[in-house]
Amino acid sequence: MFNGKQILLVISGSIAAYKALELARLLRKAGATVHAVLTAGGARFVTREALAGITGQRVHDDLWAAEAEIGHIRLARLPDAVVVAPASADLLARMAHGLADDLASTVLLATRAPVLVAPAMNPAMWNHPATRANLAMLRSRGVAVVGPGVGAMAEPESGPGRLSEPEEILAAVVALLAPAGLPLAGRHAVVTSGPTHEPIDPVRYIANRSSGKQGHAIAGALAALGARVTLVSGPVVQPDPVGVTLVRVETARQMLAACEAALPADIAVMAAAVADWRVAHEAGQKLKKQPGAAAPTLEMALNPDILATVSRHAQRPRLVVGFAAETEAVVQHAVDKRARKGCDWIVANDVSGDVMGGDANAVHLVTSRGVEDWPRMPKADVAARLAQRIAEELA
Ligand code: CTP
Repeated sequence: MFNGKQILLVISGSIAAYKALELARLLRKAGATVHAVLTAGGARFVTREALAGITGQRVHDDLWAAEAEIGHIRLARLPDAVVVAPASADLLARMAHGLADDLASTVLLATRAPVLVAPAMNPAMWNHPATRANLAMLRSRGVAVVGPGVGAMAEPESGPGRLSEPEEILAAVVALLAPAGLPLAGRHAVVTSGPTHEPIDPVRYIANRSSGKQGHAIAGALAALGARVTLVSGPVVQPDPVGVTLVRVETARQMLAACEAALPADIAVMAAAVADWRVAHEAGQKLKKQPGAAAPTLEMALNPDILATVSRHAQRPRLVVGFAAETEAVVQHAVDKRARKGCDWIVANDVSGDVMGGDANAVHLVTSRGVEDWPRMPKADVAARLAQRIAEELA
């Protein structure tokens, strides 16, 4: 993926700095040469020995030593991309104001390579007007930002400020390095795929025959056109698409939460076969047969509709695409479904044959302009054609 690319990884002070080691490993595994720069704060959380071991390169942590070795200007000119992970509130402030009082800030001021920052800090610091203003300034200068996530922090506090996971940062680096000419460069797409599993008890669940082939292919096709893709997938055996942030979930409710957490996005493609119902009362222990007793009756409860929720969300993506799995009156049901769910397009398919789990699909694309019947083709081709149509729509 990154063959021959040079990446400068700047690590500043945060309890989450340990994740930078995993990020360095993933970048190297993807073919990049990783040069690490540690700030004084960063060096309190990860050792230069661990970083040198993982990157296979000398670690830079001293402005004056760097001068003697290769010079900060050369270090700034060397990389194809600079990734600051974790980016502390302090380093973001120094970047925003053009300070150059240590090696990391000096290199960040001198570089002309694209820069990605992955902020990590306490929620109060993240929400402070000073940090908001610094981020806005950096964004306006073209600095890319990934995260932070929301969730439990090291401190007994929760909220925005948590460093994004290494896989997510990796996907953002892929998008950062995507040739600017790609039609979906700079766009974020959320894609759902696969079935959901709705538990009955700790060992049993209700599922469906979705393989995730179509949804995974769409995620890969959007990424190939330069989009940053968050793929929210139910349990499948598909290989992970390259350059995509994969969020694994089991239930419909988890899938909805992951989709909402991934917003804002420009594009949503909801290809998952979400279970319409879940078991109302999941048993905490395995249900046991009682001698002579009747078989249990499962009471079902309605699941949230993810497509309809995203279509009516305050942060609604510009283009929302749903799927319709039908076994009869395919187009008519799809036209109704488009209106009912509030999405822009519906990709309708007849699932009465071998579509679920199969490799090919004949679909109808329902838009506000009418219905297009696409010929039967491999799911990978359906994905490529859909991604192309999406790129044209957003152009
Ligand atoms: N969908 C969803 N959340 C649900 C159910 C469905 O997001 N709880 C999405 C699917 O991902 C798909 C679209 O809605 O994009 C249509 O799914 P489908 O199963 O065809 O429709 P249903 O909503 O189940 O409607 P019906 O039962 O009338 O077929």
